[in-house]
Amino acid sequence: MIIAVDGPAAAGKGTLARRLAQHFGLPYLDTGLLYRAVGRRVLDAGADPADPVAAEAAARALTPADLDRPDLRDEAAAQAASAVAAIPAVRAALLEFQRRFGRERGAVLDGRDIGTVVFPDADAKLFVTARPEVRAARRQRELAGRGIAADPAAVLADLLRRDAQDAGRSVAPLRQAEDALLLDTSDLDPDAAFAAALALLRARLPGLSDSA
Ligand code: DC
Repeated sequence: MIIAVDGPAAAGKGTLARRLAQHFGLPYLDTGLLYRAVGRRVLDAGADPADPVAAEAAARALTPADLDRPDLRDEAAAQAASAVAAIPAVRAALLEFQRRFGRERGAVLDGRDIGTVVFPDADAKLFVTARPEVRAARRQRELAGRGIAADPAAVLADLLRRDAQDAGRSVAPLRQAEDALLLDTSDLDPDAAFAAALALLRARLPGLSDSA
């Protein structure tokens, strides 16, 4: 079984996808980490993440150890990820890995193009979103939890810039697949979002049991 979870930054996709994977006994892949790791490699090389040659080389050189780097969650990695993610050769280089991961034992994958490009025939697709101010507040709390003080207006501006770049690119842009179930988590805590997602999935997949 493949469950695709897409949506903009800080909408709660990761928390939700991880819980769904645990609930159904499926492997989980955070595909944003792949793009973040490519972005980090390009920055390490002193190159511009928007440079197609440098970015493709970084994507082709990616190893599993890159995904364990401790510096993939910060804003520099996020912006670099969004830049490399607009380059078709980078997406092509990462596509096969994502498909192989999902095909092995089924999976819950979260990202921007899982339901539209990576697994267009996924068993179920969720498009998870929330109001920008809510997403920015969540991101700020997450940063605070890591001891990083951030200006709320700057956090919101960073999120909106990244969403615009992800939705505006020509290859695999962020968008809701036609057959994706929309889940707005603006007024939901993680438990309520999980319950709402389960209800949507059960309605979409009537014989769904609690393990895949
Ligand atoms: O989910 P995230 O914030 O970790 O993703 C970081 C960036 O990677 C995001 O701004 C766009 C890109 N990305 C993508 O283009 N496609 C995916 N499936 C996942 C992430």
